[in-house]
Amino acid sequence: MFGGIAGRYDRANRVLSGGIDLYWRWRTVRAVLRESPRRVVDLATGSGDIALALRRQLPAETTVEGLDFCEPMLEEARRKQGGRPGLRFAFGDCLALPLEDASVDVLTIGFGLRNLEDRDRGLREMRRVLRPGGALFVLEFSQPYAWLRPLYYPYLEKLLPWVAGRLTGDPEAYRYLGGTIRSFPRREVLAEQMRSAGFAAVRARALTGGIVALHRAEKGGGSPER
Ligand SMILES: C[S@@+](CC[C@H](N)C(=O)[O-])C[C@H]1O[C@@H](n2cnc3c(N)ncnc32)[C@H](O)[C@@H]1O
Repeated sequence: MFGGIAGRYDRANRVLSGGIDLYWRWRTVRAVLRESPRRVVDLATGSGDIALALRRQLPAETTVEGLDFCEPMLEEARRKQGGRPGLRFAFGDCLALPLEDASVDVLTIGFGLRNLEDRDRGLREMRRVLRPGGALFVLEFSQPYAWLRPLYYPYLEKLLPWVAGRLTGDPEAYRYLGGTIRSFPRREVLAEQMRSAGFAAVRARALTGGIVALHRAEKGGGSPER
């Protein structure tokens, strides 16, 4: 599905979010900078906006990589990178990451966790590749505060697929998007799912009335629940 909209994905994001998606990604990058990582991997990188912003902001000695399993999205990311060095975009499935155990300081995943076929397996895989004390940042849609819901949910179900259909030619993809957003767990529930996958010190920050949340979790010393 992402392969079909790759070339028009960024423009659709800007229009459908009114440009606020840039702010959400900026908040994620700012949070990563505080960790002073040596190796960062952006998962489900898509057209690469988070990875490219990380590359711009982090010192040259920090390694930055972007992984995705959709080649047309990766091509779009490489096109935007324009051959600049210091950033590698490569094929990588979040459910079977091509990364060594305990080899990464910080993982980011923006609007990707919701799309994984098996969220728990994906989270355990992320924990596997993080070094002890390493951090995972999940930027994802969430459930907004009650006052916003009467406006937001009709927007998701009616207006968004219509506008997105005109922008990308694929209203079905955006009907799917609205559905996955509505059924995605609220902040506390996602935090609990992260804990049961073995993460510790899970914190969530609501952004833009709770439409989006940024979760930070650490690879603690304990083992995941069976
Ligand atoms: C909504 S896009 C998000 C892209 C980007 N992170 C952003 O912030 O715009 C979701 C991406 O997740 C990718 N994806 C979904 N499941 C995946 C998996 N199991 N492994 C790797 N990438 C996956 C899709 O190919 C798509 O590029």
